[in-house]
Amino acid sequence: MRKTIIAGNWKMNNTRKEARELASELAKALKGKSGLPEVVLCPPFTSLADTVDAVKGAPVAVGAQNMDYHDSGAYTGEISPQMLLELGVTYVLIGHSERRQLFGETNQTVNLKLKAALKQGLIPIVCVGETLDERENNLTDAVVSRQTAAALENIDLEALKPLVVAYEPVWAIGTGKVCESAEANRVIAIIRNTIANCKPGAANLAEQTPILYGGSVNAKNSVELLTQPQIDGGLVGGASLKVDEFLSIIEAGQKRLVALGARA
Ligand code: 13P
Repeated sequence: MRKTIIAGNWKMNNTRKEARELASELAKALKGKSGLPEVVLCPPFTSLADTVDAVKGAPVAVGAQNMDYHDSGAYTGEISPQMLLELGVTYVLIGHSERRQLFGETNQTVNLKLKAALKQGLIPIVCVGETLDERENNLTDAVVSRQTAAALENIDLEALKPLVVAYEPVWAIGTGKVCESAEANRVIAIIRNTIANCKPGAANLAEQTPILYGGSVNAKNSVELLTQPQIDGGLVGGASLKVDEFLSIIEAGQKRLVALGARA
């Protein structure tokens, strides 16, 4: 059974104080609970240490929103994987569409970052997704396949075991326009198929890789999204900034786990 993951991408929101408050409230609500999905909080770099501290003892992991792929050196403004590990960070988002669109990240830098994260033992969440223009030109499947295949290039099967992927259609991010659950499920199946065909013997890897959906996920639509067989969780932006809303999405993840358990 694949992991169910609910990850909150706080983007460039929350001061240290606000991050501590939000993370503490979530930690308090989740402490001691069983049957939870894997819960991951991705605050800005400046709040990582506070967030790690605030969730201590609770079933909550912390992820970074980005990192550099070098170990160290003359890369002004960048943060290395080791620096994240030192803070107690265990996950890292790679190639979020905002990084690709606004900060010049490419399939090649995503590949380099994925290699670095895996080498250092961070769990990577690789983000892929088409723009509105690409969707309207029937390029969705080709774009997500290319992004996925390029990310995995020249990486051993064995090394890819911790891989997590997030399908985030760019037009659904921050717009309130959620991708229909059946369509998200279909595209995620394409991504899974791309992983299966990326190298010989990758069928198992594809079967075991959690693939999340992201793009205007909220308390209301999360239950329907998470009943889809291919959607293994959510990468949540705006709704992860509100305690109750995010807790409801985590509950939808719990429901998914119950349903999967009943089927197994
Ligand atoms: P929203 O949930 O705000 O649409 O953001 C999605 C996202 O980009 C998460 O990484």
